[in-house]
Formats: sequence, structure tokens, C-alpha cells
Amino acid sequence: MGLLEGKHVLLGITGSIAAYKSAFIVRDLIKEGADVQVILTPSASDFVTPLTLGTLSKRPVLTQLVKDSELGVWNNHVDLGLWADVFLIAPASANTLAKMAGGEADNLLLTSYLSAKCPVFFAPAMDLDMHAHGANQANIERLVNRGNIHIPSESGELASGLFGAGRMAEPLHIIEFLEAYFTERAPLKNKKVLITAGPTQEPIDPVRYIGNRSTGKMGYEIARAAAALGADVTLISGPVALEPPKNVKTVLVNTAAEMYKETLSRFDKMDIGILSAAVSDYRPVKVADEKIKKSSDNLNIELEKTDDILKSLGAKKKKDQILIGFALETENALENAKKKREEKNCDMIVLNSLRDKGAGFGHDTNKVILILRNKNINLELKPKSEVAKDIFDCIIQEFL
Ligand SMILES: Cc1cc2nc3c(=O)[nH]c(=O)nc-3n(C[C@H](O)[C@H](O)[C@H](O)COP(=O)(O)O)c2cc1C
Repeated sequence: MGLLEGKHVLLGITGSIAAYKSAFIVRDLIKEGADVQVILTPSASDFVTPLTLGTLSKRPVLTQLVKDSELGVWNNHVDLGLWADVFLIAPASANTLAKMAGGEADNLLLTSYLSAKCPVFFAPAMDLDMHAHGANQANIERLVNRGNIHIPSESGELASGLFGAGRMAEPLHIIEFLEAYFTERAPLKNKKVLITAGPTQEPIDPVRYIGNRSTGKMGYEIARAAAALGADVTLISGPVALEPPKNVKTVLVNTAAEMYKETLSRFDKMDIGILSAAVSDYRPVKVADEKIKKSSDNLNIELEKTDDILKSLGAKKKKDQILIGFALETENALENAKKKREEKNCDMIVLNSLRDKGAGFGHDTNKVILILRNKNINLELKPKSEVAKDIFDCIIQEFL
């Protein structure tokens, strides 16, 4: 589902023979697009090397509370606790579970656990009898009662040669467990979102077209943000030089007419439509069959209006559908954007600025004003990925 994409995952590894499997957890989390910071307990360093885990996670592995006692440098467990969106302790030894349950804090993993503000998952790994021991079971129960999330161990052959429960859940099952947890709680779970992005190209002859400067970056970030919030996303994209986002159905089009057809035919089944594409307002009436030769001094190309996608969707929009348009105005921006919202029956217009440095076409940053029925929200200049998240924060708060 891709709900781990962009998430900060703190992975705590303890002194269990299952620690070697954590390398696979790191690899799979990275594959899912997560940002992984590994913490080893001092004992875990006997089982796996920081070199392996640091290479896989692309971040230095942390093992000690104090980095350099002579220089007074230490690893800040409070910052780690705040940085993390998810704290996963896998494998979780009987010793660490007991210390977590008792609130002990004598290593970096435990101090970070006590500082964590995010959901904490733990995957116990130990021998059959250790696992079944009343003290260990009571610790697991205490942790669960305190809101920590137990990823149960699995049954099978154990390192000791015994057979039964206690084996750490397989790395893939741990990833699936996390995905399922976040899917269940995703704010846009079961929501279908239709997004348009990029420019359109209106052919003049077989080699020339009328286009615009849109790169599609904003729309692609909106699609990524929607997928990360658990939505079922369809992206109708004009010609751009971007990789299709993961976990998004991408439909590639060229002309305004194609974008109109692909968007209109899907809108009925959607909960939210966000039209960020820069669609050409006009197209040549006739497309020359052959390349137009440079013969006369002047060339007149007759243009006709293209269909207005936003207006057509606004006219079809049902009560429970949310429709959002984008506007780019070079004069009377606010006034024109407000008028556009009303005329096209949109719930919100995202007004792009062309005047601010770092905003608009081609940049990785943008500065927009969200225009709602009864208020405007001015956003600072920020990365387009952050603007996309702010747009969904606003949608969730105002309409869902
Ligand atoms: C070879 C070996 C394997 C071990 N495997 C486990 C294990 O799977 N689970 C466990 O709870 N303890 C296991 N232990 C014991 C822990 O390493 C020990 O309790 C240690 O203090 C745990 O420290 P930590 O929780 O701070 O990482 C093992 C010890 C050794 C020597």
C-alpha cells in the first residue's frame, strides 16, 4: 500500500539470535520508502554489525547514549523519540521487554523508548520456555496495556533446536503488520482520489504543438501525498519528465481533449477530484497533416476553445464529492480565484503565485493560498511535498 513511504522508522535491535533477521527488516523498510534509523543495544552489537545495518539503512547506526565522553557528545534520545513516526523493536529480547515494562533506562534504546511519542511496536524473539515464562508474559501484557503494539512471535524451529512459539515474526510479516496497522488508521482509507497534473500539448502539425511551462511536480506530489494517506489514487498526467508515483494508477495523456475524456469518465466514482494540470485553453482548429513549411512572412493559426474540465466536473459534482481546482493568475489574483471557485462550483481553489521567488512552474517549492467558501489560508513558501500535505490537512479538516 505504500503507507510506510516517507515515514521515519526507529528500529531498535536487541541481543537475540534473531538480530540477523533485522538486516532484512531494514532492507524491506527502505524498499517501502521509509527512512530508517537503527539503534542497537550494547548486547545486540555482539550479534550484528553496525557496518551491515548502517550500509543498508544509509544512516550511521547508534549504539551508545554517550558518543564521546571527552568531548561531551551524546546521542539525543529525546530528539530520536520526536523524530520517529514509528518505533519498532525487533527482535525484542526478554531482557529489554522486562526493562521496558519496568521503565528502566540504562541504554539508548530504552531512553528513546521512554521518550517516544509515536506508536511503539515490539516483536519478541526468544526460546520457547523464556517466551512462555509467566514473568515474560506479564511484561508483554503490561506493555500492551500501556498502548504498545505486540507483533506476536511465530511457531517453528528455534535456535536451541526446540520447536514451538518464540521465534521472531518473519521480517516480511512484520512489514505487513505495520502496513496493515497504518492502512487501518489511514485518514483517506477507502477514499478514491482523482488528480490531474502536468501540461497538455495541442498539436499544430506533426512536429509542433502549443504547450506551457508546467512540469507536473505539484500534481505528482499531491498524488504521492494522497497515496501515503491511504487513498486509492488515479493520476491523469500530461507529458512530463517525472517517474510515475508508487502505488498510484497513472494514465498518460497528451492533449486537453484526452485529459477531458479520461477525467470526466472517471469522476463519478471518485470522492475527491484535484485538478492541478495546466490544461491548454485553446487548440488549433486544424492540425496540419504535414510539417508546415517556412514560406510566408506571417503564419496565422486559428484556435478554438478546449473543453473546461473543472467547470464540467463542477456541473456534475454530487453533494458528497469534493472538487478542488488550481488557479494561476497574473492580475487581480485573489479576486479572480474567488470568482473561479464560485463559477466552477469548486469546494476549494489553490491559488498559485508566479510572482514569489521559488514558487510556480519548475520549482521544487511553491507558495499558495487555499481559497475556501468562507476563508483563505495563506501558506508559506515550502517544498511542494509539504504543500501537498497541507492541502490534504485542509481537506480532512474542512470536508471529511
Ligand atoms: C547466543 C545467544 C543467543 C541469545 N538469544 C536470545 C534471544 O533470542 N532472546 C532473548 O531474549 N535473549 C537471548 N539471549 C540473551 C540476551 O542476549 C541477554 O539477555 C542480553 O542481556 C540481552 O540484552 P539486551 O536486551 O539489552 O539486548 C541470547 C544470548 C546468547 C549468548
